[in-house]
Amino acid sequence: MRSDKFTWQQLRQFKGREPLPALTTYDYPTTRLLDEAGIPFLLVGDSLGMVVLGYPDTTHVTMDHMVHHLSAVVRAEPRGMVGADLPHLSYQTPEQAVANSRRLMAAGADFVKAEGGVEILPVVEAIRASGIPFCGHIGMLPQQVLQEGGKYRIKGRDEAGRRKLLADAAALEAAGAFACVLELVTPPVAAEITRTCATMLTVGIGSGPDCDGQILVTHDLIGAFPWFTPRFVTPRVQTGLEIRAAALAWKQSLLLPNSVQPSPSA
Ligand code: KIV
Repeated sequence: MRSDKFTWQQLRQFKGREPLPALTTYDYPTTRLLDEAGIPFLLVGDSLGMVVLGYPDTTHVTMDHMVHHLSAVVRAEPRGMVGADLPHLSYQTPEQAVANSRRLMAAGADFVKAEGGVEILPVVEAIRASGIPFCGHIGMLPQQVLQEGGKYRIKGRDEAGRRKLLADAAALEAAGAFACVLELVTPPVAAEITRTCATMLTVGIGSGPDCDGQILVTHDLIGAFPWFTPRFVTPRVQTGLEIRAAALAWKQSLLLPNSVQPSPSA
């Protein structure tokens, strides 16, 4: 491990201060580039299933997929902490959750993440009791999208929703989660969770500016999956369009005389 790796203490210092920047990554070159940009929180998210593997949602992602991509990410030896998602159905019991978390840690993760609040508390407690750093994920839970009728709905709009999110966040913090992703949580509720959690970092996605950090799916940030961009993301570059244009320009250049250079041995 490199000697300048981010420490837990450095990560905790983002609580209530400058926003913690967090991005997803699934491969070696992207991880190197994000590391060179100084991103302290990297996540091998199960969004992998949609933006890399071509599945319609994250429920198709397996432990083998996660380990394969996490291993590539870890080979880049980033300074940032590397998290890995426990995929759908991989944490149905505390025993299964601990075994799968250990497998992700053995593949090089610095922490694991799972979706849910109070209802997965026994799982979170077992993961923490085994000494593995844990990040929660509440609000819209992509692994539950089929139960939600295929819709990614904003959470915390009504009083019952607000109370549930506050209770979930408090329970995860008490169980020892160092951070929690807040996905599609109404901004006032995300701000309230951020204020009421004394130590747990909140990392928002589509949840307004008042979280301790912000996470994006890197493919959304760089336009690498141009067929769908969430409403709350403004891509900073359009790599998808650039790739298509480069391939087209190269294809057309082959039609020009002498466009292919002879190989050195020819
Ligand atoms: O899978 C993922 O990429 C995530 C982020 C959106 C937080 O969980």
